[in-house]
Amino acid sequence: MDFKSQLNIKEVPNHIAIIMDGNGRWAKSHNKPRVFGHKKGVLSVRNVVEGAGEIGVKFLTLYAFSTENWNRPKVEVAALMQLLVATISSEVSSLNKNNVRLLTIGDLKSLPGNCERELEKAKEKTKNNTGLSLVLALSYSSKSEIVRAVKKIATSVRDKQIEIDSIDNDLINDYLDTADIPSPELLIRTSGEYRLSNFLLWQIAYSELYFTNKYWPDFTKEDLFEAVFDYQNRERRFGLTSEQIKN
Ligand code: FPP
Repeated sequence: MDFKSQLNIKEVPNHIAIIMDGNGRWAKSHNKPRVFGHKKGVLSVRNVVEGAGEIGVKFLTLYAFSTENWNRPKVEVAALMQLLVATISSEVSSLNKNNVRLLTIGDLKSLPGNCERELEKAKEKTKNNTGLSLVLALSYSSKSEIVRAVKKIATSVRDKQIEIDSIDNDLINDYLDTADIPSPELLIRTSGEYRLSNFLLWQIAYSELYFTNKYWPDFTKEDLFEAVFDYQNRERRFGLTSEQIKN
């Protein structure tokens, strides 16, 4: 089925977040080393970024490296960092050509120096682009993001910049890494796992969740369109009744 032509282009989610999972298992199923799966995964990233742009998604957040991923074997971590640097530097011109702005969330300072520098350079070079914002979650976990935000809020209270009574949902949003990014309407996870793995826990309070068995290297923009089609056939009630939504 051609899902793209079935989409209501006015109801495309503003923000889609993706937990890209299954690179290792995909490689294993092809009798290849895990890194081969990550390399193939980069091609899926390219394809899905293109697809998101085609249907007018404004923000696409990809979980590229979690704080927990630091505990993987050293060679795999090094290969992922190397892949990230190589991909970012080779893709910057294509991001500019396609009007894509690169953003990051997570603790960038914990990345190897060359990686952090390459990302900062790419963000600077693409900062004026007005099409899709591609948000890479790097050395990211939701709980560590929340801990950082709480520390910043506590410091602001101590320094008398804010009153305790002014702490509400909006203020907490402003202290998260995602301060300038709207909450995702749709969260996709590949590879048949039904977990959130410490990803955007605050921001997905009312997101629609979509799980597919496909491994990330097999996931294409057609699969993205199918997920959006599925999303468009759901009723989002935000705690209200179906009748209230219809009225
Ligand atoms: C999950 O598969 C994937 C990752 C931890 C890394 C994702 C990274 C890429 C796709 C490449 C770099 C990305 C960018 C944005 C340039 P897994 O290794 O957990 O697979 P498994 O669960 O089958 O072992």
